[in-house]
Amino acid sequence: MGITPFQALACPLDGEALIRSGNTWICPDGHSFDIAKQGYVNLLPVQQKRSHDPGDSKAMVAARQRFLDAGHYQPIAESVSNAVLSHAKVQTVDNLPFSCLDAGCGEGYYLRQLADAAANSPSLSLMGLDISKWAVLAAAKQDAKHSPLSSWVVGSNAHPR
Ligand SMILES: C[S@@+](CC[C@H](N)C(=O)[O-])C[C@H]1O[C@@H](n2cnc3c(N)ncnc32)[C@H](O)[C@@H]1O
Ligand SMILES: [Zn+2]
Repeated sequence: MGITPFQALACPLDGEALIRSGNTWICPDGHSFDIAKQGYVNLLPVQQKRSHDPGDSKAMVAARQRFLDAGHYQPIAESVSNAVLSHAKVQTVDNLPFSCLDAGCGEGYYLRQLADAAANSPSLSLMGLDISKWAVLAAAKQDAKHSPLSSWVVGSNAHPR
């Protein structure tokens, strides 16, 4: 039982498995990605960016955070958490954690709600990914206020060509 940060990451440069060593994720070919002090890792190499500051801007992230913190979408978050947890109960086998990726997590509202709702549920392994560094920074900062429950990654959910 419990919530653990999702650990299975692939190198964005060659797809090899990343292994965590201290505060760095390293692939067998020597590519390394440091975990920022706020608790997230940037897996979006500059050559895979299509703009200087991709995804939602700092102001957009702050505005969404204010809106969500006001509780307007609380019922939606509850429904999302219930749906995920009902899948987790059905699919969890051999005590392996049920993995949940929020691909485009914004400032992490739904994963935080899920982590709170999952206190007495089967093991969950959580990851939030967003192409906006501002979103991931906000998510990691808020998560760190209790104890980090999710892995937070700056990256794209689209495979570069
Ligand atoms: C409408 S917002 C929703 C954020 C969050 N899911 C929520 O509901 O609060 C869409 C998010 O997707 C991110 N995004 C856009 N393109 C992306 C991509 N290719 N990979 C990952 N995230 C992306 C944006 O930066 C933004 O945070
Ligand atoms: Zn690599």
